[in-house]
Amino acid sequence: MLQDQLKRPLRDLRISVTDRCNFRCQYCMPAEIFGPDYPFLKSEQLLTFDEIERLVKIFVSLGVKKIRFTGGEPLLRPRLSELIERIAAISGVEDLALTTNGSLLKKHAEDLAKAGLKRVSVSLDSLDEGRFSEINGHRGSVKAVLEGIEKAHEAGLKVKVNMVVKRGANEEDIVAMAKFFKERKQILRFIEYMDVGNTNGWKLDEVVTKQEILEQLNDVFPLKPIKPNYRGEVAKRYQYLDGDGEIGVISSVTEPFCATCTRARLSAEGKMYTCLFASSGTDLRSLLRNGADDETIQHCVINVWENRKDRYSEERNQYTKNKPKVEMSHIGG
Ligand code: GTP
Ligand code: 5AD
Ligand code: SF4
Ligand code: SF4
Repeated sequence: MLQDQLKRPLRDLRISVTDRCNFRCQYCMPAEIFGPDYPFLKSEQLLTFDEIERLVKIFVSLGVKKIRFTGGEPLLRPRLSELIERIAAISGVEDLALTTNGSLLKKHAEDLAKAGLKRVSVSLDSLDEGRFSEINGHRGSVKAVLEGIEKAHEAGLKVKVNMVVKRGANEEDIVAMAKFFKERKQILRFIEYMDVGNTNGWKLDEVVTKQEILEQLNDVFPLKPIKPNYRGEVAKRYQYLDGDGEIGVISSVTEPFCATCTRARLSAEGKMYTCLFASSGTDLRSLLRNGADDETIQHCVINVWENRKDRYSEERNQYTKNKPKVEMSHIGG
């Protein structure tokens, strides 16, 4: 079986289909940096659907079972449902999911579900229009995201909601968000603010820790820990004692989960990354466009995975935040 240097198999592939986004979240694509002159990828630089499909088949042959589409904002990629339909048809793909900001979900949810998508993670950091607008760079509305979530649910997609908690931005929304999604029996996951990319000016004291989040919640809605759904699940799960569903906490800063990390990432321009915090990736697009056969590409991926030693979150300290890192918008978290 294919394993990396820390004996971790390759099981998941997160595929970014665009580096563009219609939001400018402070912690991901601050508007001051991602302005009108920012050099986003041109369409000919993006992997085509044929190229993505070919790579997915190769990754599946090496053990990948779960595919997640990300961005930037993946729903900005024209005809995404066609790609999903092609990937859903590949035998060996057991789980197919999408991570989105939800702003365009109302429009696309039905087509996505028809195409074979199973699950969506929708990002929403506050229910307060003012604070949400502040966080997303004055681009999106809570109302549109909630309508998107509703539509996704109606279309039969399983929905999880992701809330990044950042001190000074939205820690006051923790309980209100929990209450809202508890009433709807939808799974909300709180994410510790991370030092992804080089532009968000991350500081450790801006991280609202898992412990703080649970303390706030337990005061109002007592919780108990429950078992992960699968080995290596990113979120720690907690159930409401009154039986009203569950929440998750993704604590990459205070309780890193690198030891069970089976995720590879593919950027929109076809580079393979072995960690969310990697400095560089391996260019698979050149191989694809220079006529390499499947076996050659397969060997390249095997070689990259066998040499993988990444465990950034376990090594994080006051200096690592300055290491050059790929931008979150290139590999979609
Ligand atoms: P499930 O498949 O439902 O378990 O979703 P997921 O948590 O794997 O995916 P999602 O895109 O919803 O990710 C939620 C958050 O977890 C995002 O903030 C990601 O950046 C973060 N995350 C996902 N994978 C990793 C990882 O390998 N390392 C770190 N540090 N964070 C991750
Ligand atoms: N820290 C934690 N999570 C982040 N995300 C984007 N930037 C960060 C960050 N700096 C989240 C998004 C989305 C997921 C893909 O990653 O909000 O839910
Ligand atoms: Fe866009 Fe998501 Fe990044 Fe916000 S976090 S800027 S919605 S890609
Ligand atoms: Fe995996 Fe890197 Fe995240 Fe650790 S920091 S869990 S190795 S992606």
